[in-house]
Amino acid sequence: AYFSPKELPLKGQKVVVTAGPTRELIDPVRFLTNFSSGKMGYAMAEAAANLGAETVLISGPVSIDAPSNVTLIPVESAKEMYDAVMEQFYTASIVIKTAAVADYKPKEVHSQKMKKQQGDSMIVLERTSDILAELGKRKTNQLLIGFAAETNDVVHYAKSKLEKKNADYIVANDVTEAGSGFGTETNSVTLVGKDDVELHFAHLPKKELALQLLQTILKLENDELK
Ligand code: CTP
Ligand code: CA
Repeated sequence: AYFSPKELPLKGQKVVVTAGPTRELIDPVRFLTNFSSGKMGYAMAEAAANLGAETVLISGPVSIDAPSNVTLIPVESAKEMYDAVMEQFYTASIVIKTAAVADYKPKEVHSQKMKKQQGDSMIVLERTSDILAELGKRKTNQLLIGFAAETNDVVHYAKSKLEKKNADYIVANDVTEAGSGFGTETNSVTLVGKDDVELHFAHLPKKELALQLLQTILKLENDELK
């Protein structure tokens, strides 16, 4: 059975949630980004707060309002998100990385708007830091929950990310499924964890899914302590 949200199982704990896309500047008027709407991350933050957690939501630029019971830290680039997460990490008990962090950023940010002629030259990209993997190296007691949007071999890739990043759970999302993924109101995911945990959640409104995911994870963690 799920906890009733009235029981506030996360009371006294700090939960950090990242959400939305990041923006990687090319010049003052252009950037690289992705389709993340922030909806799933905002739903995770709201669910954590409704379960009693002090909730910090570190969000890239999105067009939706933050839940009233969370503290919003707005960021733009992957680097800003990295710095904000690290500042919160050591006092957090759970970190939920729903954000779609850009994997690459332009190596050079032009200080003035690039002109068309310059576009004939290449924009050189370099990798951003993997925030979740860095948390995985630094974690002591924190529970780390990552998200992964995939188009194929969803569970296989989720398991490999779980291991590579030393996360406790990966919520894997098949973005090719109807009613699942970027910008949709509903979502279907597979929760992957250690000890071959593999639980499917189908076609749920994102807010409902967020609550079920958190409650399931808390239950799995509780059972493990027994
Ligand atoms: N992530 C992160 N920092 C990055 C990239 C990803 O913290 N620079 C986190 C995401 O927030 C998410 C998890 O890692 O929780 C998985 O993201 P995903 O893009 O699926 O993984 P990648 O390792 O970037 O692999 P891929 O090549 O499939 O993009
Ligand atoms: Ca990625």
